[in-house]
Amino acid sequence: MPYFKKMVGTLCYLSPLDPGDAARLTEWLNDRDVAESLAIAPQVISLPREREVLERLCREEASFAIVDSQTDSLLGVCGLTHVDHVNRTAELGIFIGEKSRWGKGYGTQATRLLLEFAFSLLNLNSVMLQVYDFNERAIRCYQKCGFSTVGRRREARLIAGRAHDVVVMDILAREFAGAGRTG
Ligand SMILES: CC(C)(COP(=O)(O)OP(=O)(O)OC[C@H]1O[C@@H](n2cnc3c(N)ncnc32)[C@H](O)[C@@H]1OP(=O)(O)O)[C@@H](O)C(=O)NCCC(=O)NCCS
Repeated sequence: MPYFKKMVGTLCYLSPLDPGDAARLTEWLNDRDVAESLAIAPQVISLPREREVLERLCREEASFAIVDSQTDSLLGVCGLTHVDHVNRTAELGIFIGEKSRWGKGYGTQATRLLLEFAFSLLNLNSVMLQVYDFNERAIRCYQKCGFSTVGRRREARLIAGRAHDVVVMDILAREFAGAGRTG
């Protein structure tokens, strides 16, 4: 697939999404290990449906493919939703679909590149996210980028009969400019 270097890091870069990646994303989003950390876990994601979603996301302002800088291959997807230009806020989402690449720094760098885009190019001020309490790798990744915990919605995620809290985290532009960019 053709990728384009919109936000560039050493390990990975963020490219506009390509609808031609629908099959790869469908494979990842039906993988339970990937999906259980995301809100879409109970959904059955078909290839035509994923194509539709991708076509829509391609037209939105802040959805990106995460691409390996060394091999130019797709690693995952990240983006901003609920972008509000009046209040300068948005919500961040990310997944690395290639499980063998977890824990190697790609998520942290992709999150930082997305925050750089949010704060420096979209001129947003506050970015929030929601993460399940069991997802320690993601929480650590977000902390490294400068996010702090705002609060938790208790027992709001039910998986296999077990309730988990939804942790809400946020970061302000000035905090990212301070520690989040490199910390
Ligand atoms: C969450 C996600 C984006 C993080 O990206 P990543 O590339 O795996 O994360 P990174 O390697 O950049 O950072 C992970 C950090 O957590 C640490 N970590 C890894 N596994 C951990 C665990 N089980 N418990 C605690 N910390 C852990 C790593 O050591 C690293 O911290 P360090 O640099 O201080 O050593 C990625 O794992 C992913 O897509 N997971 C599946 C989908 C998902 O959870 N999306 C987020 C939903 S909110």
